[in-house]
Amino acid sequence: MHHATHQVSDESISEMLKAAAVVPTNQDSCISEEDYQGIFAKQGLRNAERLLQALADSNWDADPDQCCIVSVGGADGSELEHLLRKGVATKAVLVEMSGLGCGLARTRLERLAAEQPGITWLVAQGDVTEQLDCVEQFLVGLRDRGCKSIILSFQAVLHELPRRSPNYCRQLVLERLLYLFEHRLVYCCEPSTAKNWPKLVELRVPGVSPHQLTKVAEFLRDRLRFSAEAVLPAGRYVRMGSDLALEVLHKVLRSVDAREFVYECGEQLTSFDAGEYAGFLQRSFGLGVSVERKTSGSFASAYRRFNVHARCMLGETLDVPNSHSIVIAATPRQAAITAAPAPSWSPAPMPAGKHGT
Ligand SMILES: C[S@@+](CC[C@H](N)C(=O)[O-])C[C@H]1O[C@@H](n2cnc3c(N)ncnc32)[C@H](O)[C@@H]1O
Repeated sequence: MHHATHQVSDESISEMLKAAAVVPTNQDSCISEEDYQGIFAKQGLRNAERLLQALADSNWDADPDQCCIVSVGGADGSELEHLLRKGVATKAVLVEMSGLGCGLARTRLERLAAEQPGITWLVAQGDVTEQLDCVEQFLVGLRDRGCKSIILSFQAVLHELPRRSPNYCRQLVLERLLYLFEHRLVYCCEPSTAKNWPKLVELRVPGVSPHQLTKVAEFLRDRLRFSAEAVLPAGRYVRMGSDLALEVLHKVLRSVDAREFVYECGEQLTSFDAGEYAGFLQRSFGLGVSVERKTSGSFASAYRRFNVHARCMLGETLDVPNSHSIVIAATPRQAAITAAPAPSWSPAPMPAGKHGT
């Protein structure tokens, strides 16, 4: 997100709470699409580099000519473009709700396909659940032309889908994207729960009174429907559950102004439990999984810049919390040579696509 130069104080939090009180739940009205997509403009390259590293670590050896990358919520397509340029695959799908992001992605992919004629791509504009028929038809075409491998990339989007995708069902989305291919890799990098913190923590943010920190924690607890846990001032500190504490820090330290705070109040950054998700991928799809927990550089620098102090109930200082998790799930090597199971539904007819070849 941003490298903020803003202050965090009782006054700034008071403005944030005032602004959020008059925008009940409709976050989309409080930040323009340009501003929102601008946040991710440079992120695509970093995301692609991280995914490339994960592929190398997983000994991914799929033939690029028989491999498709699907990026869900991949914003302006810069992640996909970089992966294609690096030769990971020759087929790519972007599923993205933002019209602005999709427009930029089409321009990128058209340009790339003109330079490298073997590239085949689809930009499916809209909600991922609603775009499944369109994407599935494109994938069926690839499968029929010999494509055997798929890489699914979810970066900073899975945590949003339960709130942003009507009728979202993670099992269905994954099944319909994966079933056609025998060789599969799912890569997720998401903000997540703080596993290196105990269940209860005490938090202090210099410049913010315990009273005001309590108010903003209670507001986020109620707005984001955290369990009805107590938020208790404890001297110069405020005691609360560790997920709520991490959520408060994400929102308060990293929103540069009240408008951004309001926007961020529309989603919970600590809803993704990487361990649970990895277990689900393993059980449901027989994939081999690994989970890595990390603290993003921008979160860590905000934490240090604002001199946040967190301690456990025994008074010991806690490390900077893990803010993100990476889950990598891939077909075990022996299983990749057996055919993928048949789907339990019939693919819908090919929709008029916004695709290129
Ligand atoms: C937090 S941004 C992450 C963007 C990019 N993956 C990154 O890591 O920088 C989430 C992206 O997912 C898209 N998105 C959110 N909900 C979506 C949905 N239901 N279907 C498709 N895309 C969605 C948003 O438009 C946005 O581009």
